[in-house]
Amino acid sequence: MTSPLFRTKKVEQSIRDTEEPEHALKKSLSALDLTVFGVGVIIGTGIFVLTGTVAKDNAGPATALAFVVAGVVCALAALCYAEFASTVPVAGSAYTFSYASLGELPAWIIGWDLVLEFALGTAVVAVGWSGYIQSLMENAGWEMPAALGSREGSDVFGFDILAAVLVLVLTGILVLGVKLSARVTTLVVAIKVTVVLVVIIAGAFFITADNYDPFIPESEPVPAGQSLDSPLIQLIFGWAPANFGVMGIFTAASVVFFAFIGFDIVATAAEETHNPQRDMPRGILGSLFICTLLYVLVSIVVTGMQHYSELSVDAPLADAFKATGHPWFAGFISFGAAVGLTTVCMILLLGQTRVFFAMSRDGLLPTFFSRVHPRFRTPHRPTILLGVLIAVLAGFTPLNELAALVNIGTLFAFVIVAISVIILRRTRPDLHRAFRTPWVPVLPIVSVAASLWLMLNLPAETWVRFGIWMAIGIVVYFLYSRTHSRMAKEENTTSPAA
Ligand code: ALA
Repeated sequence: MTSPLFRTKKVEQSIRDTEEPEHALKKSLSALDLTVFGVGVIIGTGIFVLTGTVAKDNAGPATALAFVVAGVVCALAALCYAEFASTVPVAGSAYTFSYASLGELPAWIIGWDLVLEFALGTAVVAVGWSGYIQSLMENAGWEMPAALGSREGSDVFGFDILAAVLVLVLTGILVLGVKLSARVTTLVVAIKVTVVLVVIIAGAFFITADNYDPFIPESEPVPAGQSLDSPLIQLIFGWAPANFGVMGIFTAASVVFFAFIGFDIVATAAEETHNPQRDMPRGILGSLFICTLLYVLVSIVVTGMQHYSELSVDAPLADAFKATGHPWFAGFISFGAAVGLTTVCMILLLGQTRVFFAMSRDGLLPTFFSRVHPRFRTPHRPTILLGVLIAVLAGFTPLNELAALVNIGTLFAFVIVAISVIILRRTRPDLHRAFRTPWVPVLPIVSVAASLWLMLNLPAETWVRFGIWMAIGIVVYFLYSRTHSRMAKEENTTSPAA
């Protein structure tokens, strides 16, 4: 008999759970639709905010190379995600996939991990949004009090009120079940891409070649006493902790990886795709390629406009234009960034509540959370609970630390998904796979190695925080979820002697 910890939820059962006619989706998406959707979800705080931080702290002008590294890691993972999403097309993303293949405990771990990814991801994007709104306000001559704005350089302990308010407003919108129409989404994507293109094209005229010298700044030792901030890999191998240099590119890649998060959501649209085997890889890889190209160009332009050591960490794209004496461009960029970041924030928050909902529907979290609102038909309870928690977090926590934690969680999910593709091919070769990952098992193995490599380049401190979060998760599983799981209850009713 298999251990209950590894009991799997049958794929057919996962699909049955959501198969009421009103949930049957139309197969209408093309590769182009997926690409537009992908670009809409992916471009956000990563490029608009983190570019400044990593250029300043880790990689200088070579930030462009960091985007290439992160893009390749994501492309590998994307091909694995697409197979899973097309085999188990049910809400809950990697959580559902692993429940079907690896078993309940691994599924719990991944679900718990995804809660972290989406919740903190929402907070990161909200803080990024606030930076651009404040940059816009500064243009108009208003300044937030330091205690409510926590902009760069202020040493006052602050609560980022704008970020918190954004999360609360979006929470309200999700509770009411308001959906973004396709037209609004397309408009927002258009604004966002236009802003990015303006940065690239207009910014190119303000580049000073001296700013690229050196393109890969020389490695610098990290001041003593800050070693926990250093990448784990440097500590493991006993290297002197350092910023910049070639290793700095990988450190930067592990942070700007955040800029690519969201493509996994595209993979979940497999069920709605007209010809998934052909269109999924085109859509996912297409949107990743476009984003990587835009990111590389933006980072080259921005580090050329301002010396990397002077870039702003709150709103670097807009502030680079202010620094070169073009506040009008800066205003336009801040406006577009703020509009674009709002939808990214909303999509992450939505993803978050859906994973929580799926876990609660399976009995791994209290079923209290999976009762939908009688009138709005939305999972209002997890939405409100998490919305409030995320708002508080977004108000208090520095953006970089949050982003690193999101990245480690997401990379960990990539590792599990890639392993699950290999396992599910062996255990359930019979399943219909609308999309098949090429070169299994080589590609998933390379994907695991690449994701682990980026994880090792994250700060040791991030590993500690991630370890604590996961340890809490394991305790909750053994104290609550293992016995309350719907699968456990069904097992008990079908075989009372077991
Ligand atoms: N990739 C998204 C962003 O950068 C989450 O904001």
